[in-house]
Amino acid sequence: MERLDKIVSIGAGASRSDARKLILRGKVQVNGGLVRDIAFKVDPNKDEICLSGEKIFYKKHIYLIMNKPKGVLTATEDKKKQTVIDLIPAELFRKDLFPVGRLDKDTTGMLIITNDGDFAHQLLSPNKKVPKKYLVQLDGEVKPEIVEKFREGLTLADGTVLLSATLEILSDTTTAIVTITEGKYHQIKRMFGLFDLGVNELKRISFAGLNLPESLSEGEVRELTVNELECINNAKKT
Ligand code: URA
Repeated sequence: MERLDKIVSIGAGASRSDARKLILRGKVQVNGGLVRDIAFKVDPNKDEICLSGEKIFYKKHIYLIMNKPKGVLTATEDKKKQTVIDLIPAELFRKDLFPVGRLDKDTTGMLIITNDGDFAHQLLSPNKKVPKKYLVQLDGEVKPEIVEKFREGLTLADGTVLLSATLEILSDTTTAIVTITEGKYHQIKRMFGLFDLGVNELKRISFAGLNLPESLSEGEVRELTVNELECINNAKKT
């Protein structure tokens, strides 16, 4: 059960204090009856809550997919720079949204944004080994010997021991697809750095078994479909 002022605030996109004013002014009905108690308990999945006669829709959790563009910070707020949260259109925006994991400022591609802490925690938990796939454009040729080294598990320059990763070298030999199941700071860049290869372009093309949809252009955000969410939920079960 949830407080009525919270549901009206989220459902109507109003601040908590404005939601309280609306309730106190008699604008809110629960299951057809006027309720002026801001702390009245409702079940948002069962009770019908109307504001000025219009049903309000409330979802406790929201799951968004973004194709992150370059130059945007994976953070909830920043005084100077644009963040991924700033790119969310008003109709999808909630104050409690946050990105699941992070991509560097110059990395593009798939990012999940949610307000569901448990969901995020499970996806980021190291023992769930959720796969993340990156398309990497390098400043030199990737030698086939490296594939086996990635598979065996690399040790980064600071001594961090990494789990086995999959490296697929594409036909132009300076482009590769890497799949990792953890998320250390600048991991991909540091992995290639061990072989004196610099990363020119990095794009996350898949996360938790879900591929970045081709229809989602850079900077675009939308809600995950039920099927997409199911696919991600399956990845964190294993
Ligand atoms: N590895 C990196 O180096 N950067 C990212 O943004 C993601 C993985």
